[in-house]
Amino acid sequence: MQTYRTHHCAQLRSEHINQRVTLSGWVDSRRDHGGVIFIDLRDREGLTQIVFKPDTAPEAAATAHHLRPEFVICVEGTVSARLPGTTNTKLPTGEIEVVADKIEILNTAETPPFPLDDTDSNEDLRLTHRYLDLRRPNMRHKLRERHRIVRAIRTSLDEQGFIEVETPILSKSTPEGARDFLVPSRLTPGTFYALPQAPQQYKQLLMVAGLEKYYQIAKCFRDEDLRADRQPEFTQVDIEASFITRNDIIAVVENILTRVCQESLGFTPPTPFPRLAWRDAMNRYGSDKPDTRFGLELQDFSDVFAESQFKVFRTALEKGGVVKALNAKGLASITTGQIEKLTETAKRHGAAGLAFIKIEGGEWKSPIVKFFTEREKNFLQERLDLEEGDLVLFGADKWETVCEVLGRIRLEAADMLGLLKDNRDWNFLWVVDFPLLQWSEEDGKWNAVHHPFTRPLTEDRAALEAGRYADVRADAYDIVLNGVELGGGSIRIHERELQQKMFSILGVNEEQQQTQFGHILKAFSFGAPPHGGLALGLDRMVMLLTGSNSIREVIAFPKNNRGQDLMSASPSTVEEKQLRELRIAVASK
Ligand code: AMO
Ligand code: AMP
Repeated sequence: MQTYRTHHCAQLRSEHINQRVTLSGWVDSRRDHGGVIFIDLRDREGLTQIVFKPDTAPEAAATAHHLRPEFVICVEGTVSARLPGTTNTKLPTGEIEVVADKIEILNTAETPPFPLDDTDSNEDLRLTHRYLDLRRPNMRHKLRERHRIVRAIRTSLDEQGFIEVETPILSKSTPEGARDFLVPSRLTPGTFYALPQAPQQYKQLLMVAGLEKYYQIAKCFRDEDLRADRQPEFTQVDIEASFITRNDIIAVVENILTRVCQESLGFTPPTPFPRLAWRDAMNRYGSDKPDTRFGLELQDFSDVFAESQFKVFRTALEKGGVVKALNAKGLASITTGQIEKLTETAKRHGAAGLAFIKIEGGEWKSPIVKFFTEREKNFLQERLDLEEGDLVLFGADKWETVCEVLGRIRLEAADMLGLLKDNRDWNFLWVVDFPLLQWSEEDGKWNAVHHPFTRPLTEDRAALEAGRYADVRADAYDIVLNGVELGGGSIRIHERELQQKMFSILGVNEEQQQTQFGHILKAFSFGAPPHGGLALGLDRMVMLLTGSNSIREVIAFPKNNRGQDLMSASPSTVEEKQLRELRIAVASK
């Protein structure tokens, strides 16, 4: 062959009829119609039908006889119209075929361990042979979409004056809340680098350096339990800027996301995106990342049930808790099994039970309705706008527990109602004014809700000074899309004294401050400008925009949910010699 290809496999149309062409790719399928061999030839762009006719090109047809799926071939031939009735309207190249007279088998292939046109293959098998999995058109589409999204992000940030800077992978532990991956140093035995959980400190140091507007498509590493939207190694669109306020960062991010939606979905989301204070998000949706594609909002009935005959409600209120309810409209037909499933969810998230009322046949059906007075019923009726077919679900406990529990129940009820399926709605939402600190029973101390560099709201500084930590809100913001936390950020502390105070509140003593954070504290004493930023989870964004169920679907070589790369079998043991060089001994247990 003179050349591997004159066209790609999605290119040829009727206008190319009678042209001589050369195509290369993989055998997608082979059909033998009484000696005439039909091949669907596949490359990254698509499929073209190739025909080998024994009477006009006997040699090529004989070779084609040996073709099997996934063989790599190069064919030369003439573009022809397909016979009437054999055109394929589903294929862009469906009007033509290439009648081949030359073929070269560039490589053979074993039978793939799973059919490449089957979307239900076992995921472990797919990940073990990821290079085959990625040959599937839908997987290729996702990688391309990811590329397009990253390109849109880069263009937008470039237009907005941001400069891309790479920061180290061998770095020092930043407390983002997860466990670090450690890398032992050979040159200084007994010491370790940490892989960055995020480039948080570096980007702040770039602000001290006067860069003013930084971004990076940054790899981050977190050793945490994995889920559908979490990988040990993932990518952030990491942003930081100086002399800006929260509104400036929000505008930058809205510009990026608008550009991404336009490029990826051909759709312009309405801006500005709505904003919701964290407390309102919790009160109304029971979540700090509410899915606002549907209602089913939580309502507070603490005022109504203070004197309730129903002991569960009264006791919760007497202990300073709350009673909340949500109306899962149209779910009265729920089965006993489904109610049990919801109750299990409630219990898993800390509830003692899940009281409910079904409105069916004009009646309120519930074991607890006998405890309700007319007045209480009227309040429920009115505030929840009760109608035939409704299902009311209650939570009575501490405020945090009730929000968490009903937030989960809300999502499960929405799923039962089929409200989560519609992926054509794109509801962006900012959740703002998170609490700065959270008391941890487990650690017996206050922890940062985001990270220790987050700035308290100016109006809450007095509460911070007075030690009323639970009342202090952060100048922090999360961007949420359809119930998924896409990104988060904050305005930062830029004063050394305030940063030191924050570390003290978090239980980092002065010595630890010096060893762990000495560099950033020192930098802050050399004229650090006011600054802030945000990081978007790129994998999650691509997952949502491509309608995928897991971020593993949009990462070329992901880990499975046990943190393993099945293809290369990592993590793996290493040579004794390598360990000796690092002066590391592996304990037997
Ligand atoms: P945060 O920890 O909120 O903030 O991370 C930002 C975004 O990164 C994504 N993300 C993940 N994606 C996949 N797998 C994971 N394990 C994972 N963890 C996080 C999420 C999340 O919203 N340095 C701060 C940002 C800042 O303050 O500027 C940070 O990393 O989409
Ligand atoms: P009990 O009186 O404990 O049998 O509870 C009556 C109903 O109230 C049952 O449906 C329980 O699931 C429900 N229930 C119990 N505790 C709570 C709670 N804290 N919040 C909401 N419902 C509850």
